[in-house]
Amino acid sequence: AVERTLSIVKPDAVGKNVIGEILARFEKAGLQIVAAKMLQLDDEKAGGFYAEHKERPFFKDLVEFMTSGPVVVQVLEGEGAIAKNRDLMGATNPQEAEAGTIRADFAQSIDANAVHGSDSAASAEREIAYFFAAEEICAR
Ligand code: CMP
Repeated sequence: AVERTLSIVKPDAVGKNVIGEILARFEKAGLQIVAAKMLQLDDEKAGGFYAEHKERPFFKDLVEFMTSGPVVVQVLEGEGAIAKNRDLMGATNPQEAEAGTIRADFAQSIDANAVHGSDSAASAEREIAYFFAAEEICAR
């Protein structure tokens, strides 16, 4: 089925000037970018996005990292977009990410791991609505 998923190019990747290289991987894999914007998250916006991790020991570091510089959020659309994006990203921990994946090629650590992608249809729906109003998503 054609799905939509939320993707974030994280501050480490923006800082390395590889926004375009990462977005090109999505496009080359047949995903379309149907919404995109760059923004600087604050503690409230980043903390709310990662609310499900609030009790985890890494929560504070995660919010600190995600607010350390601008991010680029996008909505990706395509056949099986959620799983396809997760395959392109590779494992959360770049040390465990398969060769050729975004995290293997661009990420440093489990926090500075270059990208985020929704992990299920339910999270995709919540995460897309968290960053984009319906009229900001351009059907194509
Ligand atoms: P992301 O897919 O954005 O979702 C939550 C983030 O928390 C994850 O990527 C990692 O960057 C970060 N993180 C840090 N430590 C851990 C951990 N032990 N397990 C999972 N995620 C972690």
